[in-house]
Amino acid sequence: MIKPHGGKLINRIASEKDKESLLSKKGFEYEVSKELAQEVKNIANGLFSPLEGFLTEKQLKSVADNMRLPDGNAWTIPILLDISEEDKNNIKDNFIFLTFNGEKIAYFEIEDIYKIPKQETAKKVYTTDDINHPGVKRVMELKDYAIGGKITLLNSPASPYPDYDLTPEQTRAEFEKRGWEKIVGFQTRNVPHLGHEFVQKAALTVVDGLFINPIIGKKKKGDFKDEVIMKSYKALTDNYFPEDRVFLSILPTEMRYGGPREAIHHAIIRKNFGCTHFIVGRDHAGVGDYYHPYAAHEIFKQFPELGIEPVIFRAFFYCKKCRAIASDKTCPHGPEDHINFAGKMMRKMITEGTQPPEDQMRPEVSEVIISYDNPFVD
Ligand code: ADX
Repeated sequence: MIKPHGGKLINRIASEKDKESLLSKKGFEYEVSKELAQEVKNIANGLFSPLEGFLTEKQLKSVADNMRLPDGNAWTIPILLDISEEDKNNIKDNFIFLTFNGEKIAYFEIEDIYKIPKQETAKKVYTTDDINHPGVKRVMELKDYAIGGKITLLNSPASPYPDYDLTPEQTRAEFEKRGWEKIVGFQTRNVPHLGHEFVQKAALTVVDGLFINPIIGKKKKGDFKDEVIMKSYKALTDNYFPEDRVFLSILPTEMRYGGPREAIHHAIIRKNFGCTHFIVGRDHAGVGDYYHPYAAHEIFKQFPELGIEPVIFRAFFYCKKCRAIASDKTCPHGPEDHINFAGKMMRKMITEGTQPPEDQMRPEVSEVIISYDNPFVD
């Protein structure tokens, strides 16, 4: 089994004994958003190994400047816990409790509290400070300060999909049970079209199993709703994949639309889940025209030690002359014969209540989508 990022799977879940003694302390309680509560859980369960908490100022600088933690481990996306100046002034101890819906979910050992250099961080991470970029917007909307330090999970917030929300320990056990040695991870924030399926099957051909791992969590307006993504993937895997070759489980975090940097982040998380390979296709985690469609391929060259192997694919399209799905590496015909898997076009058809053609999307998948009055995030 592949080693987790940084060498060991982080487990920051309090034992029953520790939980009791930590909960008996009195301290400042800080209520976090649903998204932050989820990140607390992700840290504690080891999805973000080797992180044991939220980034300190030194770690943030190192991640923003060098795409690495100070110890040299690759890390490309800042995981921050933001607070207001007023809250900062109310913290008197070297620890606080994080609460969600009023319940204490974590004990936080404060290492430092610092002003977030928002614009600088956004620019370095997303290579733009254009506020129209959804990742930049999220950074600019953060409260002004961040707390760095380790967390210990006391109570785990409920999962939106408990049957499909496995921890790295559980996915690793599942892969082992299935006898899979080579596992390819697939990131997605979308409902599947035939281009996605082709990429998945091309990669699956040379490994033992496919781990379909959709991001479930905050996305931008116009993206598909989580429920639609899950149901459409169920329809795809039930009808078009051998049961013993595919495994569906969620990655409960938010999309950041960080293109190449997010591709590395996605690969690290899948390595922690136990994947040996990771699919990176066209414009991975991209948005608009901010990133070159193959920038996410190139960035892996800067991390030769990553451990998880990127399986890179150029854009697939349907070629009318080949009468098959092809890419510019495999098809000799011109663009006039090519039909791209155009998310925008499919979206328009779905909005109008029309089913996308079968050479673009499986009918079982499009039926799920058009059964919703509004399948999109508002
Ligand atoms: S993403 O933001 O999660 O990357 P999406 O869910 O659309 O968006 O893509 C999931 C994965 O499939 C990514 O690795 C992406 O590059 C790849 N992909 C999507 N469409 C194509 C395509 N037509 N050809 C090749 N790869 C693709």
